[in-house]
Amino acid sequence: MSKQPIGIFDSGVGGTSIWKEIRNVLPNENSIYLADSINAPYGPKGTRKIIELSIKNTEFLLEKNCKIIVVACNTATTNAISILREKYNVPFIGIEPAIKPAALNTKTKAIGILATKGTLSSALFHNTSSLYSNGITIIEQIGEGIVQLIENGSLDSLEMELLLKSYLKPMLKANIDYLVLGCTHYPYLIPKLIKLLPKHVKIIDSGLAVAKQTKSVLEQLDLLNTEVLKPKNEFYINLKNTEVMQSLLGKPFNVDYLEF
Ligand code: DGL
Repeated sequence: MSKQPIGIFDSGVGGTSIWKEIRNVLPNENSIYLADSINAPYGPKGTRKIIELSIKNTEFLLEKNCKIIVVACNTATTNAISILREKYNVPFIGIEPAIKPAALNTKTKAIGILATKGTLSSALFHNTSSLYSNGITIIEQIGEGIVQLIENGSLDSLEMELLLKSYLKPMLKANIDYLVLGCTHYPYLIPKLIKLLPKHVKIIDSGLAVAKQTKSVLEQLDLLNTEVLKPKNEFYINLKNTEVMQSLLGKPFNVDYLEF
């Protein structure tokens, strides 16, 4: 069992930011990453469709014999993880915007959350944000268009810079001192965000916490891979153009096109 891979899925290429954290924390583990880019973005889709796609992705990974599934997508986690946990007898790790550390540490009493429409409108997000919103202003901003730009290889475009500036504007006006990234595509924006934000604004991203949680669950269930051979990392995307994902991962990793 322990040699079985960790399965990871996202609506697209963004979850590779989580895969990188997992690889650093769990360097011995085999892994299979699935990018459902043909259906990206999930953000504007309704809950029912997001659940359907999350089930399809999970079944693919279970057929590949994965021992644990990491839902490397805030939108899929906040809309579908409870259904997945009910339906399948395998541990699931999810990712949600990390409001708690921002809300507990803000000095200006204002924090910003950048996430997809699907995440911000989910019941899970509402429950968490209402737990921590007492006495602070939470500026929620839908990152409309960001996922598509990253998916089509326009991470470094002028269009991206203009979008980010417009999304940060109301947050800066409200004097936020924490910006919570609520989408696994967004860690790729961090170098740009650092340039656009005043120095005192801290960026919070939950990738490392997800990787640590994955390790801790594997430890608890005695599922860590104890074999110290070179691990096998497989990457699948259902778009013929594999270049964007390939460039995010870099060498020596290899991305394969697969229809699913
Ligand atoms: N990476 C996904 C997330 O974390 C992107 C969602 C989308 O496809 O809109 O929410």
